[in-house]
Amino acid sequence: MQKTLSIIKPDAVKKGVIGKIIDRFESNGLRIAAAKKLKLSEEDAKNFYIVHKDRPFYGELVKFMTSGPVVVMVLEGENAVAKNRELMGATDPKKAENGTIRADFADSIDANAVHGSDSLENAAIEISFFFSNREIC
Ligand code: CMP
Repeated sequence: MQKTLSIIKPDAVKKGVIGKIIDRFESNGLRIAAAKKLKLSEEDAKNFYIVHKDRPFYGELVKFMTSGPVVVMVLEGENAVAKNRELMGATDPKKAENGTIRADFADSIDANAVHGSDSLENAAIEISFFFSNREIC
């Protein structure tokens, strides 16, 4: 069993597809172990994406992630990290396989509907960024 962090980004929250995205996880063996809706501050977004601080898209990414509320979740299941990334599809929705969350709900590489941890190690770091142990069931 693994745990991973998922974020439903501001574009998907605005579109009203929170339930449809959660259904993809629950229908594919990923349990929602924790969930909350919040609006990231600029400081939150900068710190969360600190690994990208030298990338040219960092400023736009922070602006986008603070443009509206997000839903952050801990997903739990067998191979949860890889399973979540498979369900999300490629970062650029134009390259995402048919039937993936990004192919179905994302508009662009910035407004790409969801974030998912890219490794088990980063999953633990990202989960602890948003959740205390007693918030994870
Ligand atoms: P995410 O999985 O949240 O991780 C970093 C985000 O940066 C990524 O999704 C994209 O939304 C955004 N981004 C914007 N431009 C790029 C790019 N050229 N390569 C990777 N990520 C990008």
